[in-house]
Amino acid sequence: MSSLLPGPNSLVPFVSVDDMMRLLIDIGTERMLCELADAIEEDFRRWELFDKTPRVAAHSEKGVIELMPTSDGEAYGFKYVNGHPQNTRSGRQTVTAFGVLADVETGYPLLLSEMTLLTALRTAATSAMVAKHLMPKNAHTMAMIGNGAQAEFQTLAFKAVCGIQRVQLFDIDRHATAKVARNLEGYGLEVISCQTAEEAVQGAEIITTCTADKQYATILSDNMVGAGVHINAIGGDCPGKTELHRDILTRSDIFVEYPEQTRIEGEIQQLDADHPVTEVWQVILGRAAGRTSDSQITLFDSVGFATEDFSALRYVRKQLKTRPFFTNIDLLADPDDPRDLFGMVARKEQKLVQGLV
Ligand SMILES: NC(=O)c1ccc[n+]([C@@H]2O[C@H](COP(=O)([O-])OP(=O)(O)OC[C@H]3O[C@@H](n4cnc5c(N)ncnc54)[C@H](O)[C@@H]3O)[C@@H](O)[C@H]2O)c1
Repeated sequence: MSSLLPGPNSLVPFVSVDDMMRLLIDIGTERMLCELADAIEEDFRRWELFDKTPRVAAHSEKGVIELMPTSDGEAYGFKYVNGHPQNTRSGRQTVTAFGVLADVETGYPLLLSEMTLLTALRTAATSAMVAKHLMPKNAHTMAMIGNGAQAEFQTLAFKAVCGIQRVQLFDIDRHATAKVARNLEGYGLEVISCQTAEEAVQGAEIITTCTADKQYATILSDNMVGAGVHINAIGGDCPGKTELHRDILTRSDIFVEYPEQTRIEGEIQQLDADHPVTEVWQVILGRAAGRTSDSQITLFDSVGFATEDFSALRYVRKQLKTRPFFTNIDLLADPDDPRDLFGMVARKEQKLVQGLV
C-alpha cells in the first residue's frame, strides 16, 4: 500500500528564526562570529572554484530585492535578500533574508534557512576577517556609525576577531545609539556614545559605516579620515546608495569582494570603471599586497557577496549534525513512483473523500 505520509526524499531541514537564535545562543555569539569568519575565509581561499555572478537585483522606488547564487561544484547556494531603508518606520527590518543550500548532483535542497540573523552574522564576520588582513597593527578603537540592526554584530565581530576594546557609537537617531550601548553591556567593551560622526571617528583606527539611506549620502567627509585608518564601509551597497565622499576613495587603497558586482553597487560606483581595486581573495592568498604602510588608508568597500552566504549556510548545516535546531519540513514531492506525480494527488484525494486523512 502506498504511504500518504511524506516520503523519505520529501523532507528538508528548515532553520527558523527561533532555531537560529537557539543555535547562536548555544554556540555563543563571539565564538560563532569567529567560526563564521574562518568558514568565510576558507571559501575565499577557494575563490577560483566558485561560479560567480553579480547578484540579480530588482530595484524599486523604496528598495531592492536581490537573488545571490553561487556554487562550488558540489553544493549550490542562493540567498533572497531585500534592502528597504524606510521599512523600520513601519516596524519592519531594512534587510530580511532566507536561503537554500542544495546538492549539485541531484539538485535536491539540503537546507532551507532564515538568513536575516545569518546575514548580520556573516556580514560582521566578513568585515572582521577582511579587517584582520588590512587594519593597522594593535588597533583597539572602532567608530561605529549607523547603530541599526547590523551594529552590535559588527562590533562584536571586531572584538572577537580583531581584538577591538573600545567602540565609539554614532547615529542620527540617538535612540538607536542608546539601544546599541545597552545591548553591548556586559561584553567587556568600552562603549562611548557620541553626539556627532566627527566625535565618533576621533582616535579610531577602524571606522565602520553601516547606515541605511536610499541615496548618495556623505557619512564620512574627507577631513574626517586621517592617515593610517582602516574603513569598513558596509552601507553603500546599491546603485545610487553610497556613504563616503569621493575624495576619501581617491586617497585610499580599495579592497573589494567581486569587482564586477562592487563596481555596480559599492562606493567605487563614484569612480571611473577602471579605477584600480584589489580583490580580497588575492590578499588572503598572499597574491596581492594588503596594508603596506602605517600611513596608508585601507578601505573595504563591502557590498556582500554570494560566497559569504554559501559559507554561512555550509557552516550552519555542519552545526546541525550535533545541535538539533531545525525541523524537517515536507518541501519536496516524493511519490512512490517518481513519474507518478499526478497519481500522488489522486490517492490523496481518495483518502480525503473517504475521510481517512
Ligand atoms: N555589505 C553588506 O554585506 C551588507 C549586509 C547587510 C546590510 N548592509 C547594509 O547595511 C546598512 C545598515 O543595515 P541595517 O540592517 O543595520 O539597517 P537599519 O535600518 O537597521 O539601521 C541603519 C541605521 O543607520 C542610521 N542612519 C541613517 N542615516 C544616517 C546618517 N547620515 N548618519 C548616521 N546614522 C545614520 C539610521 O538611523 C539607522 O539606525 C544598510 O544600508 C544595508 O543595506 C550591507
